[in-house]
Amino acid sequence: MAGLMKALVAILVLCLATRGLCDCSLNNINIGTVRSGREISGQPEWNVTVTNNCRCAQSQIKLSCMGFQTVESVDPLIFVKNGDTCLLINGNSLEASASVHFSYAWDPPFLLLPVGSVIHGC
Ligand SMILES: *[C@@H]1O[C@H](CO)[C@@H](O)[C@H](O)[C@H]1NC(C)=O
Repeated sequence: MAGLMKALVAILVLCLATRGLCDCSLNNINIGTVRSGREISGQPEWNVTVTNNCRCAQSQIKLSCMGFQTVESVDPLIFVKNGDTCLLINGNSLEASASVHFSYAWDPPFLLLPVGSVIHGC
């Protein structure tokens, strides 16, 4: 128990010492996918919202998107596949608390996870 407390205090001190690292990470990129209810060429459409839940802007946001396909065209300036990763908003900055939306149509939906970003001004 005491050991656990010490570990928690150590983490807290480390956080205060390196604020930026603790305030912002890839974990602050939240990705929500909801079914829009529409069908495109027989495939269900999915609305994706990517939000930067960080107090700093993040750019070069990359999501894992292995095997990503869609029958609905997605604006490459918003989301473009490049191998097994996809680049968001052409590598531009997503401001603090801002989100971007796009939709695609495929069955089943893809598990999109953040795999990289550059954090600004933390
Ligand atoms: C999905 O996105 C479309 C286009 O932006 C929008 O019109 C629709 O309301 C969204 N649906 C849901 C369930 O979020």
